[in-house]
Amino acid sequence: MRVELINLGKKYEGRENFTIRGVDLVIEDREFCVILGPSGCGKSTLLRMIAGLNSITEGELRFGGKRMNSVPPKDRDIAMVFQSYALYPHMSVYDNMAFSLSMRKESKHIIDERVREAADLLQITDYLYSKPSDISGGQRQRVALGRAMVRKPKVFLMDEPLSNLDAKLREHMRIELVRLHKSLDTTTIYVTHDQTEAMTMATKIVLMDDGRIQQVGKPDEFYNKPINLFVAGFIGSPTMNIFEGKFQEGRFHSRDSSLVLTPSQEDLEKLRAYEGKEIYLGIRSERFHTDKDDEQITVMVDVVEMLGKEKILYTKLGEDEVIISVPGHKTFEENQHYGFSPDKEALHFFDGETRQRIN
Ligand SMILES: Nc1ncnc2c1ncn2[C@@H]1O[C@H](COP(=O)(O)OP(=O)(O)O)[C@@H](O)[C@H]1O
Ligand SMILES: [Mg+2]
Repeated sequence: MRVELINLGKKYEGRENFTIRGVDLVIEDREFCVILGPSGCGKSTLLRMIAGLNSITEGELRFGGKRMNSVPPKDRDIAMVFQSYALYPHMSVYDNMAFSLSMRKESKHIIDERVREAADLLQITDYLYSKPSDISGGQRQRVALGRAMVRKPKVFLMDEPLSNLDAKLREHMRIELVRLHKSLDTTTIYVTHDQTEAMTMATKIVLMDDGRIQQVGKPDEFYNKPINLFVAGFIGSPTMNIFEGKFQEGRFHSRDSSLVLTPSQEDLEKLRAYEGKEIYLGIRSERFHTDKDDEQITVMVDVVEMLGKEKILYTKLGEDEVIISVPGHKTFEENQHYGFSPDKEALHFFDGETRQRIN
């Protein structure tokens, strides 16, 4: 089902400012939309507004074109999965999953069919008669998902459902959730502060900061064309290198001029209006190469971090710190100088004042 948020705003009672402001967003039918942002930016608030658990202060919420602002949660045809999945400890997995359907007085036959279907998809059939305390954290999270699935909702709402799992299991469940979404084809709105979850699962990412949307797009757009300095710094690990500087006589000069670069012809067109002005230059850590180039920089390697397939070099270039990733099998010594050339095709320029993308 298509979900539309039109100029949505939320002001909690007793709070001076709006927690959510001017949120305009269309989530198409069957999309896996991830709402991403730092802790406290208003992700849960927004999701709870969609669920009907928070009232809407201003704007409109539509499901399939129908206004939902004052429709109670139980009539919204949604199912929600939380970080803490609070199963009923005294009930079996089966009864936990069947609970909401029994409350709705569905027939025993339908309930059994739905529970078994969900259990089969989630591969928890073997535990149907176990108690939550007898299964692992990952299995419990699957039961929580199953409990939501049996209701066959039109929209799944998930609030950091993997946060309580350890790293390995989280990675596994990410793939499971993508598979599940493919087989169920249900519109999913998924909240997380974890950019890896967003990049790997989303068909659409919505990045929020301070109650407002910063950028909406596909994962690769976020990585390759961040719309402003906030997005550039938020997406990507290691964090994108950002240099403050000036655009002068067709070149970028970092503050202490230890980095001077001529942008590509295409970027120069866009930078024309910035002659003599302050701008930011962003370069991702993997966009440095060791081939000789007449605009090569010489960095001093401070710390080498070995990650296996790559090494992360934490380096100094004048007063700037530069993070460079190199293949894991190459040798780099700490406290030594090395030459690198930034890839001219991968430069990100941002306005010094508005911090919006230039190129
Ligand atoms: N019930 C509430 N009453 C007042 N303020 C709240 C309430 N719930 C959340 N907030 C505030 O709203 C802001 C956003 O919170 P939240 O939506 O939980 O962010 P996130 O999920 O992105 O971490 C925070 O400043 C938080 O303190
Ligand atoms: Mg939250």
